[in-house]
Amino acid sequence: MNTVKTVRELRAAVARARGEGKRIAFVPTMGNLHSGHVALVTKAAQRADFVVASIFVNPLQFGAGEDLDKYPRTLPADQEKLLQAGCHLLFAPSVEEMYPDGMAGQTRVSVPQLSEGLCGASRPGHFEGVATVVSKLFNMVQPDLAVFGQKDFQQLAVIRALVHDLNMPIQIIGEPTVRADDGLALSSRNGFLSPEQRAVAPVVYRGLSQIAEAIRQGQRDYPALVAGQLQQLEAAGLRPDYLEIRHARTLLPATQEDRDLVILVAAFLGTTRLIDNLHLDLDATA
Ligand code: PAF
Repeated sequence: MNTVKTVRELRAAVARARGEGKRIAFVPTMGNLHSGHVALVTKAAQRADFVVASIFVNPLQFGAGEDLDKYPRTLPADQEKLLQAGCHLLFAPSVEEMYPDGMAGQTRVSVPQLSEGLCGASRPGHFEGVATVVSKLFNMVQPDLAVFGQKDFQQLAVIRALVHDLNMPIQIIGEPTVRADDGLALSSRNGFLSPEQRAVAPVVYRGLSQIAEAIRQGQRDYPALVAGQLQQLEAAGLRPDYLEIRHARTLLPATQEDRDLVILVAAFLGTTRLIDNLHLDLDATA
């Protein structure tokens, strides 16, 4: 696996692979890779002949006071994991390479509606930062397909929308969330949890599962279901940001008639913000 740091080297390496008739897959990441990322790269390697990954902690998607500075940077360990998972080319640019003219005047990509609410409400500008950097990366790599984790459910919806709306000929694949044995969704931010917090954290997924089970059993009083689980999160010592039941495609608040649902949660455990979701297609499980 080759690691390149400039757009020029990246384009040259991808052009060589294209010249050999290879199908290109792309997995953008912010590094500090865990088994969830490895699953994305593995999927990419199954679907294409040449896998490009990127590691770039994108300042544009972090708000003031968020964890940009303490976001873990672990390049040598990440390179090893990417190699094992079947990655051919790693793009690991500097901030200057990605934003050579600074960020203030940078053209932005914004996806209205889907970016509002949920994580968009508590992280203003976050999805604009994500949509902008992903658009830039897509234009640099020009892959046939790209793989993202379903753990960032709203992010995946935003990326699907931007690819559709901007007519980018890129297939977007969503990969299921990888979980620890106790249900906690794998995340680079789990490393910030103390052992005590780590022991409590699975309550987040348990809450989602309990709501899903209640809905499967026919309960449709969504406000009551949400209120009950919010209480449980608080009792466990978390500070919920949101817990919502939405339509899985539009991300609009779920109606009693909706069959394709997603339950989404964000909650602080100490200073660490955990997110998770559970997709519940009532027609698929009926
Ligand atoms: O999900 C992430 O790691 C990031 O938001 C992404 C898609 C790599 C854009 O910076």
